Amino acid sequence: MRGCKTGMRMLPMLLLVLAAGAAASHSSCPATPPDSGATLQVSHAFGPCSPLGPGAASPSGAGFLADQAARDASRLLYLDSLAVRGRAYAPIASGRQLLQTPTYVVRARLGTPAQQLLLAVDTSNDAAWIPCAGCTGCPTSTPFNPAASTSYRPVACGSPLCAQAPNAASCPPNSKACGFSLTYADSSLVAALSQDSLAVANDVVKTYTFGCLQRATGTAAPPQGLLGLGRGPLSFLSQTKDMYEATFSYCLPSFKSLNFSGTLRLGRKGQPQRIKTTPLLANPHRSSLYYVNMTGIRVGNKVVPIPAAALAFDAATGAGTVLDSGTMFTRLVAPAYVAVRDEVRRRVGAPVSSLGGFDTCFSDPAVKWPAVTLLFDGMQVTLPEENVVIHSTYGTTSCLAMAAAPDGVNTVLNVIASMQQQNHRVLFDVPNGRVGFARERCTAA
Ligand SMILES: *[C@@H]1O[C@H](CO)[C@@H](O)[C@H](O)[C@H]1NC(C)=O
Ligand SMILES: *[C@@H]1O[C@H](CO)[C@@H](O)[C@H](O)[C@H]1NC(C)=O
Repeated sequence: MRGCKTGMRMLPMLLLVLAAGAAASHSSCPATPPDSGATLQVSHAFGPCSPLGPGAASPSGAGFLADQAARDASRLLYLDSLAVRGRAYAPIASGRQLLQTPTYVVRARLGTPAQQLLLAVDTSNDAAWIPCAGCTGCPTSTPFNPAASTSYRPVACGSPLCAQAPNAASCPPNSKACGFSLTYADSSLVAALSQDSLAVANDVVKTYTFGCLQRATGTAAPPQGLLGLGRGPLSFLSQTKDMYEATFSYCLPSFKSLNFSGTLRLGRKGQPQRIKTTPLLANPHRSSLYYVNMTGIRVGNKVVPIPAAALAFDAATGAGTVLDSGTMFTRLVAPAYVAVRDEVRRRVGAPVSSLGGFDTCFSDPAVKWPAVTLLFDGMQVTLPEENVVIHSTYGTTSCLAMAAAPDGVNTVLNVIASMQQQNHRVLFDVPNGRVGFARERCTAA
């Protein structure tokens, strides 16, 4: 595993790439199909057809893998700090983790007349942030302009909503608007709590409450808005409870694909009726994380020996397994990862190398990869090779697309990441306390 410090230095490059690409996209990219009903098209932020631009033109090069591994390591520390109260990895996980660089984005329209936005889909976040015009330090080239919207309203100081804003909501001197700030490590964000009309697909959320970003310092500035699908009081999911009943599903497209587009389906309508499910576990300290009960992992036909404590859910310590849309490659606590990796290596039986943060790679193109099955309480998910193996564009090397926590960091979370969820319909049914999985090719509609 690459040292975290080295990895972190690569991140600014990635951010630059994201910030640079606004309009241009790959010439052979098909147009993203229109959103319809309560279904939004989901695009991979790093894919060759990313709406953010052709930033990640060689998505499986070693440099890209190293960037992703570093970004994931940083996100893991962020998620772990959410899970464990009072834990902060401030020196390693810098402020960029306040606002994630996106993995998947959807389109939305804010204000009257509507202004187009891209929002990052983040299942582990409650925040609703939008970079606003005049924001100093926000790298976006297309911020939302409140002055051009007749339906924009700042939230007043002293209103109940203002009291719900994260951290110390404050009313700056000479201001009647509810402002708030977040600081973390070397970064800070200042936003005005605001309301406007948000349109997603064919639906309109009339008074959507969001943080209109005014200033970002340090490394945390987001390249676009954030659609928080966590369960906290100000998240998109909570704000749209009457419309969507805290239910959504997505099918995440492969980041390599030119032609595949996934969907985010909001509400109960159109959700799969027959789907394998596992209970959602409630962690009262961390309501925004989607915990599930992963009880084991099978490699080929063998359940690998993982100590029960490495998988057990514990609301007090924050330990357990979460599903996350913002991490790219699954991260397991060390004893679980080592058990999986050792069995994969044993079955493949070829010389092992490492590449860009992954330690189980094979340069022989003829190797046979075993299937990996995630065992959840009441549900098994057997991952086909495309969800387990990452093929590098360098030569013929392929790697197990999972990792342990960064060296020297003792995290408690197992994170089932987007590559392992790709080309599956994943249903988050909060009212019924369950998560479902079904194989689905996310073809463009
Ligand atoms: C994309 O999909 C369309 C129809 O689904 C197909 O006609 C076309 O050949 C595909 N393009 C690529 C590059 O795969
Ligand atoms: C997880 O599943 C196992 C096996 O079904 C069960 O024994 C255990 O109690 C479950 N844990 C939680 C927290 O539900």
